[in-house]
Amino acid sequence: MRVASTIAEMRAVRRSLTGGVGFVPTLGALHEGHLSLVRASVEQNARTVASVFVNPTQFGDPADFDRYPRDTDRDLELLREAGVDAVFLPPASEIYAADDSTFVEVEQVTEGLEGEHRPGHFRGVATVVTKLFNIVAPRRAYFGQKDAQQLAVLRRLVRDLHFDIEIVAMPTVREPDGLAMSSRNALLSPEQRRAAAGLYRALQRAQQLFSAGERDGERLRGVMREALGGEPLAQVDYVSVADPASLREADSAGETALASLAVRIGAVRLIDNAILTPHASREMT
Ligand code: PAF
Repeated sequence: MRVASTIAEMRAVRRSLTGGVGFVPTLGALHEGHLSLVRASVEQNARTVASVFVNPTQFGDPADFDRYPRDTDRDLELLREAGVDAVFLPPASEIYAADDSTFVEVEQVTEGLEGEHRPGHFRGVATVVTKLFNIVAPRRAYFGQKDAQQLAVLRRLVRDLHFDIEIVAMPTVREPDGLAMSSRNALLSPEQRRAAAGLYRALQRAQQLFSAGERDGERLRGVMREALGGEPLAQVDYVSVADPASLREADSAGETALASLAVRIGAVRLIDNAILTPHASREMT
């Protein structure tokens, strides 16, 4: 496995990789969720490139950026074991010049949810992903469904900027109690970790009600708030039931809906989501 830390090195490695390249961009502190993306890429492409870069521009709060877990040696070991051909591991100075003046702003799908609660977040994500796509030049790129709005943003970006890249979405990987895998889970104390399972229970409650025929957006949001209300350590940022394509809040849901939520447990902010369908998927039962 080759490790490149400069853009010039990464471009040289990329030129040596023949066949279609699958790309897995990450913030590092890898877990099973990331590895499921890597495995899919290794299976579906001649070559796989991953990046490990804690992108400063997508963190609004500098303390959140500083606190974000980092374990580069372990990440490289996991990527090597999973069969990755090359890793791009740049310092921030390689990606951003002090006088950078070009940024990528995706409109509409960024208006609600994370876009509303984390101003500037998607500008940071869209800008870094555009840079990484230009450097790595993949045929396919892999992202987790756990970041449902990020997926919608990146699909729009690829469409609007005419990148010849297929965005592949992979299902959320969960712990046995339903908690979605996230690098941030490592920051939870044992008590907070128990409370964090409440996010999944809230989504399950929405799915149960949806399966029973409820389509009123406010009642579906209400049942999630109620489920989270029973968890004293959980401070709700938002609960949402939205149209899965436009991500606009639904007054009355259609055949399917995107239920999502963001919750703070102590200093750790967690997000999760589920596509509500008339018949619950196995994941949501
Ligand atoms: O989902 C993530 O890990 C990040 O937002 C991404 C796509 C690697 C951009 O920094």
